[in-house]
Amino acid sequence: MRDETRDYPRVVTALPGPRGAAIIARDQAWSSPSYIKEYPLVAATGRGAMVEDVDGNRFIDWMAGIAVSATGYNHPKVVAAVQEAAGKFLHICGTDFYFEAMAALCERLGRLYPGGEKARVFLTNSGTEAIEGALKLARHHTRRQYVIGFRNSFHGRSYGAMSLGASKVKYRAHFGPLLPGVYHLPFDDPYRGDFDTTAADELFRTTVAPAEIAAVVLEPIQGEGGYILPRPEFHAYWRKFCDDHGALLVHDEVQSGVGRTGKMWACEQYGVTPDVICSAKGLGSGMPIGAIIAREATMTWASGSHGSTFGGNPVACAAALATLDAVEGGLMANATVMGERLLAGLRELQRRHPSIGDVRGMGLMIGVEFVLDRRSKKPATALVAALEQTAFRRGLLLLSCGQSTIRVAPPLVLDTYDVDRGLEIFDAALTEVEGQQLG
Ligand SMILES: Cc1ncc(COP(=O)(O)O)c(C=O)c1O
Repeated sequence: MRDETRDYPRVVTALPGPRGAAIIARDQAWSSPSYIKEYPLVAATGRGAMVEDVDGNRFIDWMAGIAVSATGYNHPKVVAAVQEAAGKFLHICGTDFYFEAMAALCERLGRLYPGGEKARVFLTNSGTEAIEGALKLARHHTRRQYVIGFRNSFHGRSYGAMSLGASKVKYRAHFGPLLPGVYHLPFDDPYRGDFDTTAADELFRTTVAPAEIAAVVLEPIQGEGGYILPRPEFHAYWRKFCDDHGALLVHDEVQSGVGRTGKMWACEQYGVTPDVICSAKGLGSGMPIGAIIAREATMTWASGSHGSTFGGNPVACAAALATLDAVEGGLMANATVMGERLLAGLRELQRRHPSIGDVRGMGLMIGVEFVLDRRSKKPATALVAALEQTAFRRGLLLLSCGQSTIRVAPPLVLDTYDVDRGLEIFDAALTEVEGQQLG
């Protein structure tokens, strides 16, 4: 029985269709060549976890505009909150003046800090800015300059965030000199190695004194680097390191936070409390907003030492408050239930498709890593690129990360149909590309 109230995926034109092709041509003539544009999706509308393009093609969405559209594409309560806020005032500048939604959002996020201690909140426009601000806060608070980052991590595109990250060399090439004082260590990857602190031990023995480290900045689950879930020992090690040496533990929850893993913050899955949490992406359901959430004892910078013209914009604050209502009001629990269904379905596909080396995840943050063969674990890069394109042409939006991983990060409103039909399309698309012997 078809449910007439819901949308179904359908591909009714060549991709892109004629309207889409015209928009793409215009974009390509005028936009910066640095944009990536994974495949020719030209969005027109969205509903729930379904996106429709300008030619009437419809896709099940397993990527949420890079893990952003937490509440789907136009959640009625988020849209209503945005419309109401926009009808009152578009801007006043929260750095210099007051308004209720900003106070409410800072309080809300402060109360969501998992440590039980009182926290304070600085609002930003993006994840990058949250990281950049956290880096400044750490140096300012500790009066130290060195910072630990991790290989395969991604924290954004500004100089501080870019210097902290080390996921793909193209993000850094020809942009130097980068920020001095950042040391990169290996991130724990249970699929590819044992938990090992040799590199850290060596770094602190030969190169930099732990007492001079301002912050350790890490994603509790790596996003762009490959949807890598480290072992609990890894998190415990860095928490202890920061406790022992007076450094701040900064968790970048830009991708993993706001209910995506089934808890508000991924660090809660690991039972570790960082000193600072950076949030963005899902926080505003697509409206630009991010946050630095820090223990009160840590957020010690003085008036005027940090600010932002747009950060904490009233319309974005309203979107974030409505998003948090929806996430706490059921979507976080839905992420757990749908995540288990998806993980089970993907593990079943792993049994039938030798190219799937590993399936891992928490809630709706799931990585499917593809390999040339399971013994060598060499990344199947071309296969993943082809899978993205083929799934798109069959009505499923996917996005890769790392060297050869598909990141499954759908809107948290995903339902059983979106999971089951999505798995069928994934299966068929994978069968098609495996037949092409791409490597
Ligand atoms: C973990 C993480 N941190 C930071 C960022 C940067 O966020 P934004 O693109 O909002 O500046 C991203 C974006 O992908 C991210 O995944």
